[in-house]
Amino acid sequence: MNILAIDTSADETSVAITNGFRVLSSTIASQIRSHNVWGGIVPSIAKLAHVERIDGVVENTLRIAKSKKRIADTNDINAVAVTYGPGLSIALEVGIRKAKEFATKWKLPLIAVNHMKGHLYSPFVQNSKGNPPRTVLFPFLSLLISGGHTQIVLAKDNGVYEILGETVDDAAGEALDKAAKMLGLGYPGGPIIEQLAREAGNSDTYHFPRPMMREESANMSFSGLKTHMFYFLKGEKGVRVDISSDLRKLASSFQEAVFDSVLHKFEKGVIRSGVKVWAVGGGVSANKRLRRRLRALAKTHHAQVYFPPYPYLCGDNAAMIGVAAHLMASRGDYVSDIDALDRVPRARLGQELSV
Ligand code: KG4
Ligand code: ZN
Repeated sequence: MNILAIDTSADETSVAITNGFRVLSSTIASQIRSHNVWGGIVPSIAKLAHVERIDGVVENTLRIAKSKKRIADTNDINAVAVTYGPGLSIALEVGIRKAKEFATKWKLPLIAVNHMKGHLYSPFVQNSKGNPPRTVLFPFLSLLISGGHTQIVLAKDNGVYEILGETVDDAAGEALDKAAKMLGLGYPGGPIIEQLAREAGNSDTYHFPRPMMREESANMSFSGLKTHMFYFLKGEKGVRVDISSDLRKLASSFQEAVFDSVLHKFEKGVIRSGVKVWAVGGGVSANKRLRRRLRALAKTHHAQVYFPPYPYLCGDNAAMIGVAAHLMASRGDYVSDIDALDRVPRARLGQELSV
């Protein structure tokens, strides 16, 4: 079954054609340049950019699939999938409208996908040739780490998910972005912090606080760390720092504090669930330091850890939505009333949509 998948949940207009776990064609029109002057995503700019680009992105995706002979024409599309949430309301709307239009015009079934389910399965997505050859093994433990979410999810089976822990305030990526802003760096801050931290040898010179570490729960918090950084930079924590000369050490110490929290809480999820197959997804899963630390943790637990196999699969993309949709379709999970499908900006994984 070939699925045309659409994701417009945040600042990427993304369309893909997938078959099972394989990506036949994928286009991502990033809006990063439109937003970075503002230091974050501006919803109205995002909506406008999605509206302007969606048709071109769909056309491009179809054109590539046809020119590479992965489909003959649009008759080879068997279903349409779209992200219904979580995400920016006015951005989600654009993709949903387009997906409804295609499902109606082509008389195809529609699959409404939770965006986090896409990130959850992103480590298992394959290229058009079926590489890397991976199969989803339930149960697996997922770490979803992006700019909007930080969650530890136990995927018990296809369609059965339990959130074991999550951030109670900022997401890890959001914390990295805010730290970057305080340090006068660009947006998104995660990759810049990663680079500076590497240059500092991933040192932990300032040993910033790791909130909620002593708590039993697998929940985590990053807003206190962000506030600490703010006052630390003002010199109000009894240490004199000079942002420009101490930049690398500051970035690195902040990144270590975030990753220590995430790893400590993820390990709680590991111990609680006893699960030895781990899958990591979301924008921050591109971070090499995080990957190295998770691989080391996997070694001590005799576990297997999977990451999105290609860089574009870490951030927002429609390919992962198509793959998640394939798993939903295998359970007959289609939208029954296409007109009634609406965006759910605060959709939670595990609370399934019923339309
Ligand atoms: O998944 P994503 O593209 O969008 C959503 O939030 O859904 O994630 C974006 C986040 C941003 O906070 C960005 O700074 C972070 O992912 N990010 C990284 C890296 N690449 C992107 N954080 C750390 N290291 C990276 N290499
Ligand atoms: Zn995302």
